[in-house]
Amino acid sequence: MLPVISITSRSQEIENLVLVVNSLKALPEGVFTASESSYIRRQHKELKKDIIPYNRLENWIYVYVIKDEKSVPKRLEACRKAGNTVGEMLNSQKALNVVIFDHQANSSETLAFAEGMALGNYQFMKYKSDHEKENTLRRIEIYSEFINSDISSYEYLNIVNEAVYKCRDLINEPVSYLTATVFAREVEKLGKNCGARVEVMNKKKLEALQMGGILGVNLGSHEPPTFTVMEWKPEDALNKKPIVFVGKGVVFDSGGMNLKTGDSMMNMKGDMSGAAAAGLAVYGIEKAKLPVYVIGLMPATDNRPGTMAIVPGDILKMHNGMTVEVLNTDAEGRLLLADALSFAKKYKPELVIDMATLTGAAVRAIGKFACAGMQAKAPEEFLELTDSGFSVNERIVELPMWDEYAELIKSELADMKNTGSGDAGTISAGKFLEKFTDYPYIHLDIAGPAFLDKADSYRGIGGSGFGVRLLFDYVIKKVWNQPRKKKNAFA
Ligand code: BES
Ligand code: ZN
Ligand code: ZN
Repeated sequence: MLPVISITSRSQEIENLVLVVNSLKALPEGVFTASESSYIRRQHKELKKDIIPYNRLENWIYVYVIKDEKSVPKRLEACRKAGNTVGEMLNSQKALNVVIFDHQANSSETLAFAEGMALGNYQFMKYKSDHEKENTLRRIEIYSEFINSDISSYEYLNIVNEAVYKCRDLINEPVSYLTATVFAREVEKLGKNCGARVEVMNKKKLEALQMGGILGVNLGSHEPPTFTVMEWKPEDALNKKPIVFVGKGVVFDSGGMNLKTGDSMMNMKGDMSGAAAAGLAVYGIEKAKLPVYVIGLMPATDNRPGTMAIVPGDILKMHNGMTVEVLNTDAEGRLLLADALSFAKKYKPELVIDMATLTGAAVRAIGKFACAGMQAKAPEEFLELTDSGFSVNERIVELPMWDEYAELIKSELADMKNTGSGDAGTISAGKFLEKFTDYPYIHLDIAGPAFLDKADSYRGIGGSGFGVRLLFDYVIKKVWNQPRKKKNAFA
């Protein structure tokens, strides 16, 4: 369960305390005796421990000495990871609460520590009968004598953490529950919760809009497709034209007639991670009442073989009238996204960012530690987004979108084909998508970091929620960088 982060004014007589310090020179008076202080210093100096647990009867005190990293993003990430480690220790003690003492005014480090602890507390317990192993931590309080706008942004942290939890829940749901219809219903619930407008387009509507890509992928399925639109348009929006987030919502990818083999189908319930991230980014931005006009577009279906399923050689007519020769039914994500991207034109967007678990090639190229990013007509925005990627450790590695790569998707029979030649599979997929855009555009292939086979600190096993923190950071920085605007609504 998500622990709530709050600010407290009590620093004494608490059950569990974490001290976040950048040096052990001055430990707070009244917390440690002289012998305790020297024990802690010895542990750090001689045993090179960054986290020093200290047990006092029922209570635990942990001292975390911030890693001496020069780069701010690296230092914050080390704090998040340490927060997760201490959170695990507290859960093993069955602790309910903890106070983090921001002793030396390291507000952003203390917050990052709390963030890692909160995100690391996530578990997907819905299908477990035995709740014995459920994490107990419910409250994270921060005690600081240095209340400033940094520390006050803990309110935003709670909102984003909740959005990440909800995003992970959707990704972790198997398709036996989360069909395209149920996905749309879940987004409707999110809209009711946060106040954003949600519209679900059903199969009939998609037929009327001639969305041949989504409908084509859906042909092998017994479940209808959906296309969910989530809109947050505040009156005081800084932007007239919206920023549109598009997400790949393949609720299960079997590969279709080009059936996946072996273990490659194992985690394919997570093939809707992009759509989940798009929806929950809008959710977070709306909950935080950020004055930015954003829209989420979430086309959804499963990809299955079936008597009606598309087969290699079939040619689809897309929403924008272009034709696509389907040479591999497992390259389905781009077919869905193409329709959503051409649909996005009607909003005359300021920027469109899509997120998609699109290619195995992206995983092979950069692994789980970043996503692959490409841009067209959006070089400045791409730099800002990359910067946000470092801030929240959802990093982006840029790949080129040079014209030559479009050669790879030329078709003999149709306007293009849905596979490349085998080389540069991530880029040829990006070039395919670019053909359906005419606005500033960023494509993020999140196939690597969206779903983890094993836990990576506060990113546990399964859906990571990659993209939610990234887009929230990107949008909130737009607000903060506005002159004459208050930096933090909660400050
Ligand atoms: N959903 C997969 C991509 C994927 C692979 C996501 C591994 C997460 C982990 C996508 O639909 C796919 O199957 N892509 C094919 C494209 C190929 C047939 C051109 C791939 O990458 O093999
Ligand atoms: Zn596929
Ligand atoms: Zn897929």
